[in-house]
Amino acid sequence: CGIVGHIGPKDSVDIVLEGLRRLEYRGYDSAGVSFIDESNNLQIFKKSGKLDNLKSTLEGKDYTARMCIGHTRWATHGEVNDTNSHPHMKDHISIVHNGIIENAASLRKELAAGGYEFQSDTDSEVFLSLLTRELASGKSFKQAMLDSFSLVEGNSAFVVLNQDVLEIMAIKKGAPLVCGINEIDSEAFVSSDPYALAGMASQLYFPADNVLCHLSAKNKNLINFYDDKGEPTDKYMSKKQDMSVGPTDKGDFEHFMLKEIHEQPELIRSLTQFYFHGEGLESLKKAGSFKPSKFHMTACGTAYYAGLLIRDFLETYNKIPCAPELASEFRYRNPLLIEGESGLFISQSGETADTLAAQELCTESKLKTLSIVNVDGSTLFRNCDNNLLIRAGIEIGVASTKAFTQQVLTGRLLSLALSDELSEESKRVKLTSKFSLLAEKIDHLISRSKEIKDIAESVYNHKGFFYTGRGIYYPVALEGALKLKEIAYVHAEGYAAGELKHGPIAMIDEDMVNVALVGPELFEKTVSNIQEIKARKGVILTIGPKDHEELEELSDYYFGIDFDGLEELSPIYINIVNQLLAYYIAKYKGTDIDKPRNLAKSVTVE
Ligand code: G6P
Repeated sequence: CGIVGHIGPKDSVDIVLEGLRRLEYRGYDSAGVSFIDESNNLQIFKKSGKLDNLKSTLEGKDYTARMCIGHTRWATHGEVNDTNSHPHMKDHISIVHNGIIENAASLRKELAAGGYEFQSDTDSEVFLSLLTRELASGKSFKQAMLDSFSLVEGNSAFVVLNQDVLEIMAIKKGAPLVCGINEIDSEAFVSSDPYALAGMASQLYFPADNVLCHLSAKNKNLINFYDDKGEPTDKYMSKKQDMSVGPTDKGDFEHFMLKEIHEQPELIRSLTQFYFHGEGLESLKKAGSFKPSKFHMTACGTAYYAGLLIRDFLETYNKIPCAPELASEFRYRNPLLIEGESGLFISQSGETADTLAAQELCTESKLKTLSIVNVDGSTLFRNCDNNLLIRAGIEIGVASTKAFTQQVLTGRLLSLALSDELSEESKRVKLTSKFSLLAEKIDHLISRSKEIKDIAESVYNHKGFFYTGRGIYYPVALEGALKLKEIAYVHAEGYAAGELKHGPIAMIDEDMVNVALVGPELFEKTVSNIQEIKARKGVILTIGPKDHEELEELSDYYFGIDFDGLEELSPIYINIVNQLLAYYIAKYKGTDIDKPRNLAKSVTVE
């Protein structure tokens, strides 16, 4: 979920709406704002669906305000409807919440027994109920916040607007929260994400867990911080706001996803430029100077599949064992973590709760931590000992495309740094031409989009898709299937080609498509697996070596690729075909490609 709060002389609601627009990637099930209007009334507007629905509701209304909090939701407890949307309000208090209250059910029972009438099904309203109970018992706003917060379990951030004292308070544990100020205009901000405050706040403060943030126009410093005893504290990290909003328009493209697919060749070129000179080269060398006895690689979703390829690089070229693990499983398995090993975290946003929890566990176990991350200044970036930025620019399409490519390449650069292959200029020159060739290949594949679109038109109505690959193509089979599921809502599975016969082959019939990813590696064996599917009447769509007659004959649809000279990076360019295939299938299906149902770009709950 995304949170934004603002106090200041300018129009707070517009500022909060702008912040929410930037945070819609964190969830778009519903959106809402509450504010104190010019007559000091507490008003609330919330609407299920995207932020635009909320904006339409506000149209024509006078919402001049000097204090506002807002929220975009990704539903956890309670279905998506207007009532369950945030903010939640009672008496003179309204709250927004990001996270999960794990003991919500028991607290709810207790509070209901005490006479509180719940309006919504959310866990968030439990905090509102606790807070109003504490305030009703005569406690100050500050004390009521601290006492209520001490009763909730799980990782959460709360931002509360209090009409009686005209103040905002915020507190968090294990969830992202940032405050900011703009001294010139006497403004104070709070958000779940520094990006929301880009160009608005000049100074940022990242509070530690359990630190109460107090935003008030009456404060000399605009924001004060208190510890869990209510005493002033300096447990926060302060930083100048140096993020810029960046270009957020689609240009000539119909969707952000398509635009981001097209950006990839240029991004590859500039990644090489950055990491092969000056500051970039230094940061790579630094990352490569610590050679751990083992990497524990954790990530979620697309980033995890990028990590599987990075695992292959680290084991093949560096002979360093690398154990990949889904971040959501990692810490609950009691993994064996030994000093001298390293935690490696892959993430686009740097805010994924499961990945952050994995990083925390590694740090607690005294492992060095290294991230491959897109967002500079994100929580993961701040918490790791070392970071390699993937420099993909802002990724708006919820289905990740360019971040995957940049993550894999940055992982390859890490593996080169670990084996000291970047110290010599001549080697860097050779590598630069290799990466330029990759960019060229991708340019060429994109120029063949029409062919992919035509294939998509022929297959989009089939009931299911199996993406298969072996070796280095297995991770991209997983990623290809994930892309299709995410944006086209079609059942798709990624499978190791050799494993299909151990069960899933029972599902193959003439309505099932096998997207077979075939590169030079393990070629014969993969072709045998395709034969097995063909024998069971499956539809074969092969992405494989160009001009291969035998394979073309075997396939119902064939997309030939030139692999020469760049095999080690071929999963990256095969994946571009997968990205475009998913995109066009989704387009024929008529789904909301940039904001697919039920998803959020950054999942900040465990
Ligand atoms: C969400 C997104 C996925 C993404 C995953 C990990 O589930 O919908 O597209 O791959 O989170 O996100 P991260 O920001 O950590 O890469």
